[in-house]
Amino acid sequence: MSLLVLGANSLIAQAAAANFAQAGHEIIFAERNKDELSKIAEDFKIRHKVNCYSVQFDALDFSGHKKAVEDCLALIPDLQYVLITFGYLGTQESAQIDFSEAHRVIDLNYTGVVSICEIIAAEFESKKKGNIAVISSVAGDRGRQSNYMYGSAKGGLSVYLQGLRSRLFKSGVNVLTVKPGFVDTPMTYGMKLPGILVASPQKVGRDIYKAMINGKSIKYTPFFWWYIMKIVKSIPEIIFKKLKL
Ligand SMILES: NC(=O)c1ccc[n+]([C@@H]2O[C@H](COP(=O)([O-])OP(=O)(O)OC[C@H]3O[C@@H](n4cnc5c(N)ncnc54)[C@H](OP(=O)(O)O)[C@@H]3O)[C@@H](O)[C@H]2O)c1
Repeated sequence: MSLLVLGANSLIAQAAAANFAQAGHEIIFAERNKDELSKIAEDFKIRHKVNCYSVQFDALDFSGHKKAVEDCLALIPDLQYVLITFGYLGTQESAQIDFSEAHRVIDLNYTGVVSICEIIAAEFESKKKGNIAVISSVAGDRGRQSNYMYGSAKGGLSVYLQGLRSRLFKSGVNVLTVKPGFVDTPMTYGMKLPGILVASPQKVGRDIYKAMINGKSIKYTPFFWWYIMKIVKSIPEIIFKKLKL
């Protein structure tokens, strides 16, 4: 029983990992920041009394992805679950005027995920087992003027995961797309959000754990975002383009 978390410094990642640790899973935390990594792994070892490891991983260092996966497999050869949580919101305004910001948003939410996912997918496909979960977003369900750089990267990611899920289905490998709404993390810090719609990382982490263990394909979290997005997606474009969303 084992989990690899890519983007371990995220509170959502740690909340999901806590559920795995409570169920006795060994955990590999992968993250770019070495100091944070050892703190997280030590904390989990003490609190949950499970084996924890740390591997340095930079989502933007595409050429280093293969080695990062090899390092993880050297620690736990029979890895079962992989949770990809890294991502970057950035700011829409900056991304519109500075392509390097748009590029970062695209690479951290799409290209970087595709790069590491393909390496893990090939490994699980050859073993004919495994579970991959990736955090996309409800923002990827419809393009909005206020965050379409981030939203389009997440939208592309959701479509990529749909295809990957179909490819890996026949090998017995599950692919889960997680679509959170607003979550109370550093990513949304300082934003004016409707409190009633903001979920805790613990709630979202629990939902992710349950969906991964139960082999689900798509998980809106909290669940009510499925209904919200159903309505948002049903608004005709002629009206939607006039809304200040
Ligand atoms: N919070 C929300 O409302 C919300 C809603 C929908 C979806 N999501 C998605 O949920 C996921 C987790 O987000 P969060 O809310 O927990 O935000 P967060 O606190 O900003 O976490 C983002 C994570 O990505 C990591 N990361 C950034 N650049 C990286 C790189 N080059 N290499 C490796 N890791 C890197 C960060 O590490 P550092 O700490 O080292 O930067 C951090 O662990 C993201 O994919 C986000 O898009 C969040």
